[in-house]
Amino acid sequence: MNIAMLGSGFIARFYADSLKAQRAKDNLVSVYSRNIEKARKFADDYNLSFYSDNMEEVCSREDVDAVIISLPNNLHKAAVAACAKAKKHVLCTKPLGRNAAEAKRMLDLVEGAGIMGGYLEDLCYTPKYLKSLKSVKDGSIGKVLLAKSREAHPGPHSDWFWDHEQSGGGAIVDLGCHCIEIARGFIGKDVRPVEVMCWAATQVHPIKAEDNAIGLVKYANGALGQFEVSWCFRGGMDLRDEVMGTEGTIWLNNFLRTGFEMFSTGKGGYIAEKAESSSGWLFPVGDEVHELGYTNMFTDMFNCIENKSEPMETFYDGYIVNAIIDAAYQSSKSGKWEPVQIDDWRGSNDADSGPATTSYDDTYYLIKKEILHSGEYKLILKHKVTGEVVVRDIKE
Ligand SMILES: NC(=O)c1ccc[n+]([C@@H]2O[C@H](COP(=O)([O-])OP(=O)(O)OC[C@H]3O[C@@H](n4cnc5c(N)ncnc54)[C@H](O)[C@@H]3O)[C@@H](O)[C@H]2O)c1
Repeated sequence: MNIAMLGSGFIARFYADSLKAQRAKDNLVSVYSRNIEKARKFADDYNLSFYSDNMEEVCSREDVDAVIISLPNNLHKAAVAACAKAKKHVLCTKPLGRNAAEAKRMLDLVEGAGIMGGYLEDLCYTPKYLKSLKSVKDGSIGKVLLAKSREAHPGPHSDWFWDHEQSGGGAIVDLGCHCIEIARGFIGKDVRPVEVMCWAATQVHPIKAEDNAIGLVKYANGALGQFEVSWCFRGGMDLRDEVMGTEGTIWLNNFLRTGFEMFSTGKGGYIAEKAESSSGWLFPVGDEVHELGYTNMFTDMFNCIENKSEPMETFYDGYIVNAIIDAAYQSSKSGKWEPVQIDDWRGSNDADSGPATTSYDDTYYLIKKEILHSGEYKLILKHKVTGEVVVRDIKE
């Protein structure tokens, strides 16, 4: 697969590093950057045969099979339009749009052009996420009741993120997009997100958008998603998830303090993304592009282009995430639960079936079986007709 890169900044380099890692068979061949010097430097660094400051020219070249969009959020739509016009498969970084209307337009563009639209949501491809998702799908933790995801760091690295016109918002659109999709994956993508309650505030920085937020997303099957996002967190990049099911629990820590500790007086350089220090006790990450999901993500994307199948993360997923974010922004202003407006819902329309009940015998439901420190068992039961709650001691 021959790939063109649009953009030459932070994420373009992370993506290029993962595409060039481990003798990969897919080739990055060209780059667009508005600044021709930066395009030339990127092409030199990654040994690319072509660079340009003309986006359409890069997208339409014959040797290109797929295009990766690594541009600021306000440029995603125009870049997708250029790919659709050139009929090149397109992989777009997160968030897909600044809002659901933009994301829907991009979805329509790829579907109209008959090209693949892959949503580059790397945190849904981390090794720990993929393994835990399989456990959830295999039924290891039963029905998911709550899926919580947190991304917090000291704030983004480029000016445009801090300007809500260009970015579409603050920490919610920047980081919440990851957390919302992580929770959605655990709860089930077929389950409709119904409404959102969100608190958001600008606590530290002199900006219009929020730099701190917490939101709850109610799903049609009764499950709850929770996102916690911050541009105010000090000490690195905190990426943690928690899933509570009827039969089990999962806790994931994807990045910070995950088993690699180093002390330095400060003579070295880069430690890990958003690490705030290079001296004292430090928490590096072994293979960052793998731990952040980039390598698994591109393997899925290019396999699916080859096999003409759907990747795990599509433009449709990006659109649903944007719709949830829109509702979160509305709720943060109204202080109320706000509906998630989805004009093109493609999942199930089943609603909450209520709590799962386990029969103990013909007369009682089982509420709980408890083992005491004496070794005896207690049963807490509810009468099926009267609703009376009783306790029974038993020996096993
Ligand atoms: N984990 C992730 O998936 C992840 C991480 C970081 C960023 N991103 C996303 O990647 C995208 C780019 O972010 P970044 O961190 O690389 O930003 P960046 O500022 O480091 O790089 C942006 C690139 O776009 C170019 N650019 C900026 N304004 C432009 C304009 N007006 N016209 C043409 N080109 C312009 C810059 O020159 C640069 O090459 C954003 O959508 C961001 O949300 C994703």
